[in-house]
Amino acid sequence: MDSIAILDFGSQYTQLIARRVREAHVYCELFPWDTPPETVLALEPRGFILSGGPASVYAPGAPHLPDYVLAQGMPVLGICYGMHLLARRLGGRVVSAIKREYGPAEIEFVGPDNPLFTDLQSPKLNVWMSHGDSVEALPPGFEVLARSTNSPLAAMGDLERGFYGIQFHPEVAHTDRGAEILNRFAVEVCGCAPDWTAAAFIEQAVAAMRDQVGDGQVVCGLSGGVDSSVTAMLVHRAVGDQLTCVFVNTGLLRRGEPEQVVRTFRERLGMRLVSVDATEEFLGVLSGVTDPEEKRNIIGERFIRVFEREAQKLGDARFLAQGTLYPDVIESRGPERQTAARIKTHHNVGGLPDDMSFELVEPLRYLFKDEARSVGESLGLPAEIVWRQPFPGPGLAVRIVGEVTWERLRTLQAADAIFLEELNAAGLLRGATQQAFAALLPVRSVGVMGDERTYRHTIALRAVMTEDFMTADWARLDHGLLARVSNRIVNEVPEVNRVVYDITSKPPATIEWE
Ligand code: XMP
Repeated sequence: MDSIAILDFGSQYTQLIARRVREAHVYCELFPWDTPPETVLALEPRGFILSGGPASVYAPGAPHLPDYVLAQGMPVLGICYGMHLLARRLGGRVVSAIKREYGPAEIEFVGPDNPLFTDLQSPKLNVWMSHGDSVEALPPGFEVLARSTNSPLAAMGDLERGFYGIQFHPEVAHTDRGAEILNRFAVEVCGCAPDWTAAAFIEQAVAAMRDQVGDGQVVCGLSGGVDSSVTAMLVHRAVGDQLTCVFVNTGLLRRGEPEQVVRTFRERLGMRLVSVDATEEFLGVLSGVTDPEEKRNIIGERFIRVFEREAQKLGDARFLAQGTLYPDVIESRGPERQTAARIKTHHNVGGLPDDMSFELVEPLRYLFKDEARSVGESLGLPAEIVWRQPFPGPGLAVRIVGEVTWERLRTLQAADAIFLEELNAAGLLRGATQQAFAALLPVRSVGVMGDERTYRHTIALRAVMTEDFMTADWARLDHGLLARVSNRIVNEVPEVNRVVYDITSKPPATIEWE
C-alpha cells in the first residue's frame, strides 16, 4: 500500500496532518523527527511531509532536517517550520521576524501552474498562519507559488524535484480547502493510490492477527465503548471462538448499558462473553470516598483485580486484545508530549494490567478514532455502539460529586437516562453535542411540590461541543428541550427537585464535574 511518512517537529497540529492524509485514503505514519532512518524507510513511503514546530531554525539545539530525507529523491512538503528547514538546507535564507504572524490571512496564488494549488481554481484562499520565522530568499530552483500581505513567500515549490514549502497550516479547519492541498500532495505529487479503506485495513489486520495468534487463546476486556467493541469484532473476525471477551459490570455504567453489551455481543454477534457483575464489590470499596482522584485510583485498581481474576479462570489465554488507538501511541512517545500538565489522571478502565504476562494484540494501534468507527461499521457493529459518545472509565462515579452510594447512583442513572432519551429523540446526540450527561451535586435545596415543602437533590445537565475534548464549549441546546428534560426529571425522579444547566466552557471548567 502506498504511504507517506510525516516527520513531527513538535507542532500542536501534527496529528491533524496525519488525519487529513488518511481522509484522502492514503496511509501515513507519524514519526518523531529524529527517528532512526531505517524505521521510517521501512514504511517504504512515496513522499515526506515535514510538520511545523515551535522552534526557530536558528535556536541552539533546534530540530534539523535529517539527511536521508532529501537523499531519497522523493517529493517533500514542508509546512511552516518544515518549510524553513527545507529552505535553509537547500540554500535559501530564513529570517526571524520581529513580530509573529498568528491568525487568519489571505493568500494569493502566483507563479506557474503546479499540482498542489492549480486545480483549486481559486485565485485566493483564506488560510491560518502561526509563525515567527519566515523564508526571505528562495533556494535555487524554487519559485514563489503564493503570497500574502505579511508573507511575500507564503508558498514555494521546485516542481522538478517535487519539493514544496508552505508557510500556512493546511491541516487546520481554519484554512479553506487545506485538506484538498494535502490530498493533492499525496495523490498528485507523490503518486499514492488512494486505496486506504476500512475494507483494506480489515483484510490486512485479520491476516496479521492470525499470524500473531496462531491457535492461541485471546482475552479481551470489553467495556461497550467504541474502541474495545471494534477491537473485539476484529479479533473475533480473525480467530473466532479463540477469543473470549470479559465484561466487568462495575455498576457505574449508565442505565441499561450492561444489558445492552450482553445482548449485542453474546446474543446478536455470537461471541463468547463472560459477564461479571461486580457492582457490590465496587460500591463496597468506594464507600466513604469523596476525593475524585482517589475514586479514580480505587476504581482503576479494583478493575484490574476483577479482570485478572476472571482471566485466570479462563485458563490458558496467552494473548490480551486491547483497543489502543493511534493518538495514544503518538502521545506516549515524544518526551515533549509527556510533559503536558496533568489535570486529571485518565485511567482507562479496561486498560492494561501492567504486571500481567500477556502478549498484546492491538489491531487499532495505527487508527484514528473516526477510522476505528468506520471499521466498526464495515464489520457490522450496531450504530448505537459505533456512534456512542465517549464515557469515562470510572463511569458515573466521577459524575456523582461526593460519595457514591446506591441511592445516589440510582438517582443519577434515572436522571441521565431521561436527558439522553430526550436528546436522542430530538436527533441531537450525533453532531449537536459530542458529550452529554447528568451529574448529581452534593447539595440539597428547598422546593415545593403540591402543598409540601421538599428538601432534595440537584441535578446538573452538561452538554458540550468539542473537536478534541481538550477544549469545549457548552452546547446551546433548545430551551424547549431543556424545559422538557427538567420537567420530566423532577416528576419522574422522586429524589430530585431542582435541575440546572451547566454553561461553562473548558477551560476554565473541565467537561466532567470531577
Ligand atoms: P475532562 O473532564 O478532563 O474530560 O474535561 C475530557 C474527556 O475525558 C473523559 N474523562 C475520562 N476518561 N477516564 C477516562 O477514561 C477518566 O478518568 C476520565 N476523566 C475524564 C471525559 O469524559 C471527557 O470525554
